[in-house]
Amino acid sequence: MKRFLSYIYPITKKIKSEFSGDLELTWYNGYKVLNTKNTNYSYGSLQEILDFALSKIIVKNIEKTLLLGLGAGSVVATLRNKYQYNGLINAVEIDAILINIACQEYQICADAKMVIHQADAFEFIKNNKTLYHLIIIDLFIDNRVPDVFYSEAFISILKQQVAKAGYFIFNLGMQADLTAVIADVMQFFGSDFELKLYDEVLGTNTLLIGKKL
Ligand SMILES: C[S@@+](CC[C@H](N)C(=O)[O-])C[C@H]1O[C@@H](n2cnc3c(N)ncnc32)[C@H](O)[C@@H]1O
Repeated sequence: MKRFLSYIYPITKKIKSEFSGDLELTWYNGYKVLNTKNTNYSYGSLQEILDFALSKIIVKNIEKTLLLGLGAGSVVATLRNKYQYNGLINAVEIDAILINIACQEYQICADAKMVIHQADAFEFIKNNKTLYHLIIIDLFIDNRVPDVFYSEAFISILKQQVAKAGYFIFNLGMQADLTAVIADVMQFFGSDFELKLYDEVLGTNTLLIGKKL
């Protein structure tokens, strides 16, 4: 019914998050998107941006994925539905409200192929011993990536957890001037990776994709 009515007018439900402020779940033209005050969080342009990134890598060779920033799980839906990804996913999300929205609103729940960790992404990787063929870093609070995820401390640990010939996709953000951040982050990943930078994907986000040599 909501889907049908949303073709006539958008229907919005507001949900409070301790981490991300007011979230808005909006049915619009038969589609349900999740937004924060200043940006789309899941199932909208963000999903298309991550789809663009996935189109640049060879998904069929991937067996284990680490997703930092589950949000409402739109990239999980893309991986499974569009790329027929059937491998394991470890998803990390700090916010229990988002984990709940992913499951209740989008049926992206923990299952035999996906473990969801309610944890801080940095703490998670500090304790992680697994190597991944794909690591997706999609960590935002509203429209900003917390600075710690641009740091050498974070990247030097993370890069060791990418398997040989594996990939990372880093959604670097949407601020106007990311030049200094980009230079630092690329240097921190260093020569172990073949790096490709995509600026203003869909007119907004900068993506860095790396393949481990
Ligand atoms: C843009 S959303 C992720 C969207 C998701 N990747 C998708 O495909 O729909 C960003 C997420 O990062 C999470 N996040 C922010 N800081 C975090 C942290 N320190 N540790 C874990 N998750 C964090 C936020 O709670 C939010 O759910």
